[in-house]
Amino acid sequence: MARNRPSAERDAALREIKRLGLNPERIPRHVAIVMDGNGRWAQARGLPRTEGHAAGESALFDTVEGALEIGLDCLTVFAFSTENWRRPASEVRYLMKFNESLLVRRRDELNERGVRMLFSGRRDWRVPKRLLRHMDESIELTKKNTRMDFVIAFNYGGRAEIVDAVRKIASDVADGATSPEKIDEKSIARHLYHPEVPEPDLVIRTSGEIRTSNFLLWEAAYAEYVFTPVLWPDFNREQLFAAIAEYQSRDRRFGGVEERK
Ligand code: IPE
Ligand code: IPE
Ligand code: MG
Repeated sequence: MARNRPSAERDAALREIKRLGLNPERIPRHVAIVMDGNGRWAQARGLPRTEGHAAGESALFDTVEGALEIGLDCLTVFAFSTENWRRPASEVRYLMKFNESLLVRRRDELNERGVRMLFSGRRDWRVPKRLLRHMDESIELTKKNTRMDFVIAFNYGGRAEIVDAVRKIASDVADGATSPEKIDEKSIARHLYHPEVPEPDLVIRTSGEIRTSNFLLWEAAYAEYVFTPVLWPDFNREQLFAAIAEYQSRDRRFGGVEERK
């Protein structure tokens, strides 16, 4: 809770953190989630995979609610990867429409809750124009909000993000705005999609898969990972709190020998 928030909001978050038995000194600023397992959730019920995506909506909004309750600064969710275009055209079409309708149906509610919406991913490649327009409208609608940043990683790939950063830096070098020897970790980080967002402290992946699948490759260099077998549609705020409790039991060393907080 590093932000300057109204004190009533801060006090409410603190009470909730204490009620949950979490350590208020070690609440992650930024939690990022790979929302995985929708297809398997649906298959287990004899439903088409797309029903699993639809069922993920309530999991997402309960998680957002939990994040607000404990006063996270930032929540990022992986909604569609640059590799997800490999799926059958009908599923990709469904996901584009579903995400568009989700934005249109839920952005007012997010706005009322004081959430600032951001999108992370390649904009100028394959994303339908209408969806881009709804993303831009959501950004505009919520841009003054300060309670929590909610980053939707859409058409996002960690490698694509690094490639895009390298392209911008290369063009700055070509223009004479910088030179190769000036390129360092800070300047690369500045050219990522959202340099203003702090790096994730905790990355959660649902569905029992233990891999990154190209999520936040640069930013998560020192994140703690929590993997849970729960399929995304069954996830909720309690699971988020449990992952944060596990995070708090870890010793973050950042390559050193003493814990840094
Ligand atoms: C995650 O669930 C949602 C997206 C990747 C869009 P999946 O659709 O990957 O579900 P599983 O992994 O096949 O069960
Ligand atoms: C990662 O899940 C992407 C999202 C959750 C949006 P995937 O289901 O696409 O990852 P893989 O294919 O199992 O690695
Ligand atoms: Mg999956």
